[in-house]
Amino acid sequence: MCGIAGYIGEEQAREIIIDGLKRLEYRGYDSAGVAIAGDKGLQIRKAVGRIENLEKLMAEEPVSGNLGIGHTRWATHGEPTKVNAHPHTNEDGTIAVVHNGIIENYAELRTWLKDEHGVTFKSETDTEVIAHLIGLMYKGDLLEAVFEAVSKLSGAYAIGVVCADEPDRIVAVRNDAPLIVGLGENCNFLASDIPAMLKYCRSIYFIENCETVLITKDEVTIFNAKREKVKRDIYHVTMDADAAEKGGHDHFMIKEIYEQPQGILKTIERRLDENGRVKLDGIKLTRKELSDIERVYIVACGTAYHAGLIGKYAIERFAGIPVEVDIASEFRYRNPFVNAKTLFICISQSGETLDTLMALREAKKKGARVLSIVNVVGSSVARESDDVFYTWAGPEIAVASTKAFTTQMVCLYLLALYMAAENGTLEEGQFTRVMDELKRTPELIREVLSRENAIKKIAKRIYKNENVFFIGRGLDASIAFEGALKLKEISYIHAFAIAAGELKHGTIALLDMDTLVITLASQTALNDKIVSNIKEVKARGAEVISLAKDGAVKIADESDDVIYIPECIDEVAPILAIVPLQLLAYHIAKLRGCDIDKPKNLAKSVTVE
Ligand code: M6R
Repeated sequence: MCGIAGYIGEEQAREIIIDGLKRLEYRGYDSAGVAIAGDKGLQIRKAVGRIENLEKLMAEEPVSGNLGIGHTRWATHGEPTKVNAHPHTNEDGTIAVVHNGIIENYAELRTWLKDEHGVTFKSETDTEVIAHLIGLMYKGDLLEAVFEAVSKLSGAYAIGVVCADEPDRIVAVRNDAPLIVGLGENCNFLASDIPAMLKYCRSIYFIENCETVLITKDEVTIFNAKREKVKRDIYHVTMDADAAEKGGHDHFMIKEIYEQPQGILKTIERRLDENGRVKLDGIKLTRKELSDIERVYIVACGTAYHAGLIGKYAIERFAGIPVEVDIASEFRYRNPFVNAKTLFICISQSGETLDTLMALREAKKKGARVLSIVNVVGSSVARESDDVFYTWAGPEIAVASTKAFTTQMVCLYLLALYMAAENGTLEEGQFTRVMDELKRTPELIREVLSRENAIKKIAKRIYKNENVFFIGRGLDASIAFEGALKLKEISYIHAFAIAAGELKHGTIALLDMDTLVITLASQTALNDKIVSNIKEVKARGAEVISLAKDGAVKIADESDDVIYIPECIDEVAPILAIVPLQLLAYHIAKLRGCDIDKPKNLAKSVTVE
């Protein structure tokens, strides 16, 4: 959601910034722009749509200079037009601002700037307010002007500012939206995320909330909210640069689907000791604290929330502790029973989802201990949690989350097994049975992936459907939600998921011969019940494609088609069952000609509430 890329050094800034913006494309955007400072003052170029449009414009109207900021905008205030695209400037065009986030008091500020200072606004954005505010405060010192201006802002934001009169510096501020600074040789970088600068540097500073940073070619100075200089440790990025490339695949999504066995293996290996027991190295949760926990709260959004539903099952079943799962954006607005005896688990691939971050802070205020399951090392959620359980999925670039989901489920199983072992709630035989099967999941997923052609065939047959229902029972109900989300977000097909037993309480009224129902039947223990649901659906004329384990004869007899997954215990079946649904969504979207990695209206990292 909005991307910022900035450069100051000895090279032409335009190529480096455009390259950085391209690497942030996964965040989602609908327009792009740059401000380059050079001999000709600030040169601003903006275009609606893809970065290629901006590049075309820059070829027609070239810019030059060794300092600049760039932006990909995901529209919030005002449509995705050229005027609303960033950077925005003050009235005389000497100060340019890029911004990620939302300025909540922008309407009051806009009125004040108009009425009291006669400012004329060009765009509908909240960002333009920042540019005018800085312009108003500017008395020959950009850093001072930014300090003054941000003291008037409320909301969540990361901003980058350049000034024609000070073409040797970038000033940037962070408040609840990600911002990092990269340290190069005779140059420095600014960005929303690491991939934007991975090609040029590996040493970075994470900018913290309410910090302002002054970046010159040779120096980076960080200030806290009291304008005091702060010292920051350098973080050395170990991420493989290739990991953020497609590596011969058509899309990041399919590459990431295929990376699941290796991600799961890594996630498991890092958490097992030589005796095959779960170890929580680096997690400070003591045995005593664990035994004091009365309730677990899992909070997340989207796909991560679906992983949380599976986690509820695993923790309740193995560790015998009651678990509540909540959507992060809802959590804050209730009065949840969270206290010092609550283990609050946040799940987030990016670690930057603002809804999740806000819920985390709320839980901390109430005294809960926060353990997060996060993929991005050093992200906001990770840094603000008491403990972090990393998913070692590697960078997930496609908007549709795949490998993060399966590794999140694996983390939750490991955590549940650890708690069970500590609390003595699972017999040794049961522990070994689940753990052994969990260890086998990478190999089982490889088997699922080897069956991609069968899924492609089904995709070909059904891709024109406009209405798809996903049903399932128990663990399969959560996978139905995730399967439907995958399909709708990348293929734009209307997909609706519901617990199979709930269908008859209303939703069944929608079924007829034009509906396709994907029935999840990976839970052998619930097969008889799901067979009844298939019959109900078939009786209304709907077509049924089921997902079942190899040899599920009864399911096959009742269904029009079956997607098979290898035999495994019911407890770990969700980790396998989602994979064919990811593949199905992918191939359907491909056949429909959709922009799979960058679906419309979506952003990878949702940094607004
Ligand atoms: O980065 P997070 O895991 O916190 O993101 C949460 C959701 O925004 C995310 O899972 C979203 O639902 C995905 N697009 C689903 O594929």
